[in-house]
Amino acid sequence: MSNIVIVGAQWGDEGKGKIVDIFTEYADLIVRFQGGNNAGHTIVVDGEKTVLHLIPSGILHQNKKCIIGNGVVVDPEVLIDEIDALKKRGRFEDDRLLISEDAHLIMPYHKKIDATKENLKGIRKIGTTGRGIGPAYEDKTARAGIRVADLIDESVFRDKLKFILMEKNHLLVNLLHQSGFEVHDIYDKYMGFAERLRGYVTNTSIYINNEIKKGKNVLFEGAQGTLLDVDHGTYPYVTSSNTVAGSACSGTGVGPTHINGVIGISKAYTTRVGEGPFPTEQNGLMGDWFREKGHEYGATTGRPRRCGWLDAVVLRHAARVNGLTGMVITKLDILSTLGKIKICTGYTFEGKTYYEFPSNKRIMLGAEPVYEEMDGWMEDLSDIRDFDSLPSNTKKYINRIAELSGVETIMVSVGMERDQTILLKNPFE
Ligand code: IMP
Repeated sequence: MSNIVIVGAQWGDEGKGKIVDIFTEYADLIVRFQGGNNAGHTIVVDGEKTVLHLIPSGILHQNKKCIIGNGVVVDPEVLIDEIDALKKRGRFEDDRLLISEDAHLIMPYHKKIDATKENLKGIRKIGTTGRGIGPAYEDKTARAGIRVADLIDESVFRDKLKFILMEKNHLLVNLLHQSGFEVHDIYDKYMGFAERLRGYVTNTSIYINNEIKKGKNVLFEGAQGTLLDVDHGTYPYVTSSNTVAGSACSGTGVGPTHINGVIGISKAYTTRVGEGPFPTEQNGLMGDWFREKGHEYGATTGRPRRCGWLDAVVLRHAARVNGLTGMVITKLDILSTLGKIKICTGYTFEGKTYYEFPSNKRIMLGAEPVYEEMDGWMEDLSDIRDFDSLPSNTKKYINRIAELSGVETIMVSVGMERDQTILLKNPFE
């Protein structure tokens, strides 16, 4: 029995969807534990591309249970659209999805508040996905959220909505100068969602723990990445949830004693969407090269991603705050044809060298990367399926990442397809 957590080791978009899809073969349950439809997990199987925002990336395998844990914020409309789109393609069966009754709902006012506040911030904007994620988590912490259990109880939902809308309309109309919402509009719409989703709703903590008792394997699927964690990321340029491995427990109701391993996913270079510090960012030609070669455009918003060299300071930080037991390196094939490849090993700022990610915003934003340069490889990697057949410079690069991060490499990915993968060590075995 093995229960494994998968997290992003950078700023998200590391290719977690593909890796979760691959490890799903060894798991019985695949559980999302935080975030919402700000995530966009892309999976390509036999040339067919699927982008998932809320449903766990295990859904493309038959006979696997996919669970949306209590730590996720759920936009019911997006979830229903995702279910319908998968059903149309014969990729979804009703008995394979469970939704936690304790998960919080994203409401229409969350989206409006998200967009309006971002506009007001001007140059201080976060660059959010505009999906209402921050305001939904704010309400959860402020004890003003509406949960899935409330949605499926008509009277509780109406009562809560009436009360909460008084405050939200005050905020929207009087402070943010926007139009407010009518109780009956939201009520009618959400009661339609309740009918569609009721059958999937349960106490998922009880369900998962019972399955663990039976010896089933659980794969906990993180969204976003470590540097977007609200505590351990580049605050305030972060998302509003804990994206680190510890969140797999609080976000599902499973105790830490049941977790057997934590796998970090890192691209062979670095990308980030939205605002905030990114010490190894490459502007100009090099950044454009990464973006075009790696197709670095957001799966959720389509925004061009900021691109740069691999940052080992970031990976060491991720290794520590997640307790990583293995690393997967994705998009290694993208680096082919580069004569020289750089890895950042530390930062300098005002004459001082930093080997750990700084918390001070001024240092984060002003950090100058210290680079180590390695020879690249000219060969195409996309058809290579075993480690020994990789060019020797590719192997050196992989080994150097492991040395600098202190985490063993367990898999590398050399293309978008499921089989364009080299597995070195299976965390489930
Ligand atoms: P929010 O999560 O929409 O509030 O956005 C906060 C920050 O996190 C912004 O910089 C977003 O671009 C970033 N972000 C949120 N979700 C993802 C993701 O799945 N991948 C990459 N960046 C993300």
